[in-house]
Amino acid sequence: MFTSIVAKRAFSTATKQKSTKVTVLGAAGGIGQPLSLLLKRNSQVNHLSVYDIVNAPGVAADLSHINTNAVVTGHGPENNGLETALEGSDIVVIPAGIPRKPDMTRDDLFSTNASIVRDLATAIAKHSPKAHVLIISNPVNSTVPIVAEVLKLHGVFDPKRLFGVTSLDVIRASRFVSELKDTDGSKTKITVVGGHSGVTIVPLLSQSSHSFTEDEIKALTHRIQFGGDEVVKAKNGTGSATLSMAFAGAKFANALISAASGKKTVTEPTYVQSPLFADEGIEFFASNVDLGVRVSCFRPNGVEKIHGLGELSPYEESLIAAAIPELRDNIEKGKKFVA
Ligand code: NAI
Repeated sequence: MFTSIVAKRAFSTATKQKSTKVTVLGAAGGIGQPLSLLLKRNSQVNHLSVYDIVNAPGVAADLSHINTNAVVTGHGPENNGLETALEGSDIVVIPAGIPRKPDMTRDDLFSTNASIVRDLATAIAKHSPKAHVLIISNPVNSTVPIVAEVLKLHGVFDPKRLFGVTSLDVIRASRFVSELKDTDGSKTKITVVGGHSGVTIVPLLSQSSHSFTEDEIKALTHRIQFGGDEVVKAKNGTGSATLSMAFAGAKFANALISAASGKKTVTEPTYVQSPLFADEGIEFFASNVDLGVRVSCFRPNGVEKIHGLGELSPYEESLIAAAIPELRDNIEKGKKFVA
């Protein structure tokens, strides 16, 4: 009797903590390495597959000595390494590509990163078409539409499973507000919507539990929109945010995995195919979404519900109005690149 209860419990735990294969493309980079480290800490990840055009075996060997569940494999481009890295992935995270230098906008990265992301998306379409794909490579406003178009060309696009990672904007917003109001940043909730570059980043400070003066709202909004520039400037030509981005990327991937336990609704901000501004020709938009579970196998099931924006102040309305044309251009640019 005792044995059978124990056996039943063991069975139910095993089913709810279904193993997850996570693949990081660009894993040897400034973001890729700390991101892979944070993912290695997640006990629900049973296989961490790291791919890069350089140094992936070294990163994998290093991570593989950490005594957590995940088996780590490292893959370079030789011997069909990308195909092997991707096969059977539940989640693919892409931080591959060049970062900004001072005085560059994210759009300046397009000429290099668009083709990197397009080629990786083609490999995903062929070798892990069912994976949830998390795009970190900038310009996110355009690279997400690029991936969508490539997946469509291969007949495997599912809007529930493609995400632009905008978590860092929300993490920065929480931190900047908590510095101003002397609160615990990890509990300071700020909604940020729109896209992931300059004026397309729209914080909805009127919806926070704090009250702000008009000057505070303007200063905070500017800092949240251009917070990435602070890091680019401080790094003085050696790159952009890597550690805070790794934290943000792991937070999002872990949320997707934890949604698969099916225990409670998991809500995260992300840039997805969205109906919110479809009337204005905007196919992708960042907002809070609920992440779900595929109950039959307790695996992640992507976007379950896209939240609306709620009530906006006149200032926030004006920010959205400024974001829309740039977002439209960025999305168009990505789509045209694939066409
Ligand atoms: P990094 O240069 O340190 O690392 C990029 C890695 O990608 C390198 O290891 C490189 O070998 C690899 N790579 C290049 N081409 C590849 C390919 N075809 N396949 C696989 N790997 C490839 O750059 P970092 O700092 O890690 O930034 C990566 C990207 O993330 C940049 O585009 C940057 O703008 C973006 N980023 C996005 C943020 C966001 O909030 N979504 C925040 C910060 C950066």
